[in-house]
Amino acid sequence: MPTAPAPPTLEESAAYITQLGKPTAAEVLARARTSGRTALQPRCGVGGHREMAVLLKELETEGRPDLLTLTIDSHTRLRRFEHAARALRTDHRTLNGYPLVTHGWQRGRELNELVAVPLEIRHGSPDPRELFATAVACGITSFEGGGISYNLPYSKDVPLADSLAAWTEVDQLCGELAHLGVVMDRELFGTLTAVLIPPSISLAISVLEAVAAAAAGVRCISVSYPQSGHLAQDIAALRAVPVLAARYLPAGLDVHAVLHEFMGVFPRRRHHADDLIFYGAITARLGGASKLITKTYQEAHGIPDAAANAAGLRLAAVARSPLLDFITVDEGAVAEELEWILRETAEIVEPVLAAPRLDSAIVTAFAAGRLDIPFSASRHARSEVIPRRDRDGAVRYHSPGRLPLSRASTERNRRLLDGPARPGAGTTELPGSELFQALRRDIDYFPLLFGELPQDAAAPGGSAADSATSTPGKEPAL
Ligand code: 5AD
Repeated sequence: MPTAPAPPTLEESAAYITQLGKPTAAEVLARARTSGRTALQPRCGVGGHREMAVLLKELETEGRPDLLTLTIDSHTRLRRFEHAARALRTDHRTLNGYPLVTHGWQRGRELNELVAVPLEIRHGSPDPRELFATAVACGITSFEGGGISYNLPYSKDVPLADSLAAWTEVDQLCGELAHLGVVMDRELFGTLTAVLIPPSISLAISVLEAVAAAAAGVRCISVSYPQSGHLAQDIAALRAVPVLAARYLPAGLDVHAVLHEFMGVFPRRRHHADDLIFYGAITARLGGASKLITKTYQEAHGIPDAAANAAGLRLAAVARSPLLDFITVDEGAVAEELEWILRETAEIVEPVLAAPRLDSAIVTAFAAGRLDIPFSASRHARSEVIPRRDRDGAVRYHSPGRLPLSRASTERNRRLLDGPARPGAGTTELPGSELFQALRRDIDYFPLLFGELPQDAAAPGGSAADSATSTPGKEPAL
């Protein structure tokens, strides 16, 4: 049997990327920010190599994205490379993404050379070291994840210290690559569990991961934020990114705001889904996002086919038209949201950043609930935070759990939730079963808004939440 050639060294990979003749992800993002034209990127990944090549080609031709994705399968995310290999031998269609490590770096290079735009790896691994090494050997210049954000939403029992240490190794390699002249984009997964994430939690986790990444040598960071659906809140969260970067990160770092189009329960009917996709793209435009990760009208039904994926890209692209310059937002409302987002984020991150060692401070804070994320599957987060939507649909803290929010912040959240409400919306004093029902309605916000579910109740057992990829307790997003 012929032996596979040895994987390239870091120097060889850097040289390969430099001579490849295509822009890096960092270059595409920088151009997007300078031009004010949000870059567009779909998620995409299938198990077979030939099928993956066809998919990338079709998306490039039909959807005209600025970046493309290799979405990685679950076996590879969990380092079950043998399982991935077996699936490739038997039926590659059983894989829910592209098993890059198993296909190997030479096939990865083939994919990279097939398309003109840069590729990003999206996965969900608490320990991505083999995957990262393979990605670099393929000349791939963007890699999603982080030691907190790719652990707590995905894994039940991976200690945070372990995932943080694994991701530090990845980030240190990014530092070495930067010395070799290649800047890797590291996108942090601020979407977390994708369910009613208060902006200050998403941004606080990203700030902590970004500080760790910068210390390890990363030069380009994409802070991704999941669209909540409330325009002023979402725009404020995106505009908070450069402010937080100036406040907490070393100068000279390239930091981008990225919007993930709504990651929760999507409407099922195409024209409703399309409305939400377009709304997300307008939000990204007004928030000054460097990049938008797009959704498709098939979102509520599972992984999209290529045609739906390309349609989602084309629809989002319409929102970039110069003809839409007339669209503006209530700047007063955005300024108020921004002020409070920055304040809450400071209250969460500053005690952790003040500790002598960041990684151990993060571990300790999660154990004590001073850092927390809602609806986590992991036993290493308390998940005592309870989010709710207020009557305008913005995501607030029904209960901040043990987060060190100031009295002023907590009271503002309560006040906003306590106002006159949609049926069941907002009130902070609710018995358990009513709170559960109210949370269901908040989670089913868009299907309810579009009239796909009866307004009076999200029927237990029958709501769209049951089929969502992002329902608490199910395998979440990436
Ligand atoms: N291809 C395309 N999209 C994918 N997603 C998950 N796996 C894939 C894949 N292989 C999408 C889901 C959802 C988000 C979590 O990621 O459809 O939109």
